[in-house]
Amino acid sequence: MNIVLMGCPGAGKGTQSAKLQDTFHLKHISTGDVLRAEIASGSDLGKRIAGIIDKGNLVPDELMISMLENIVKATDKGIIFDGFPRTVAQAEALDAMMKRLERSITAVIMIDLPESEVVNRIASRRQCGKCGAILHITPGTPANKCPVCGGELYTRPDDTPERVKHRLEVYHTDTLPVKTYYQRSGSYVEINGDQTPEKVFEDIVNVLKKVK
Ligand code: AP5
Ligand code: MG
Repeated sequence: MNIVLMGCPGAGKGTQSAKLQDTFHLKHISTGDVLRAEIASGSDLGKRIAGIIDKGNLVPDELMISMLENIVKATDKGIIFDGFPRTVAQAEALDAMMKRLERSITAVIMIDLPESEVVNRIASRRQCGKCGAILHITPGTPANKCPVCGGELYTRPDDTPERVKHRLEVYHTDTLPVKTYYQRSGSYVEINGDQTPEKVFEDIVNVLKKVK
């Protein structure tokens, strides 16, 4: 089973991918996490990437596609693609890559969230630098230690209200055409993301039961 999980910034792609990975024993590939890991490595490539994603822009398609292909080739597991494809060129490249590797996309799931919810959700997000857990910080809860592993929590540099606004603009211009691309293929399904994480997960599992 290979799943493309789509959705605007903050829609819950990472949250749902973590649950899907554990339940269905899939490999979770978040291209955002792949890029952040390259930045954390301190490489020259990472420095170049930081200059792009910290501003909320997309890294060039060719770079993203070649980074992704190496990760896909290294696993035999089914894959959850989180945050990829983000342009029609990436969707076409993914189709070609899956064909070459004799694999196919089982379902494209769009987690649909009203944009009025996005800034609030992202303002309350912290991510663990050690285990990668995505957390929703509520008033009165510690905002610096991961409750899962005790690691340090951080706020992503692209999570300021201004950057989120820009990321939403980029999503409209570059990523929404990917929705039309997949709607034509017939494997596209929308889920209401404005529900509890548990209910969103239940809806996704129900979709997967039908297509598996
Ligand atoms: P990426 O890291 O993919 O960011 P994004 O798409 O903007 O999405 P987010 O990670 O912000 O949100 P999410 O949907 O994962 O939500 P989450 O589960 O965390 O990409 C970052 C950047 O990298 C891009 O801007 C670009 O520069 C670059 N990039 C990445 N991929 C690329 C590509 N393919 N090509 C080119 N460039 C690329 O949840 C958010 C918050 O909400 C959390 O606090 C969570 O706890 C909470 N939450 C989740 N679900 C619920 C719920 N149901 N109810 C209430 N709260 C919830
Ligand atoms: Mg994410």
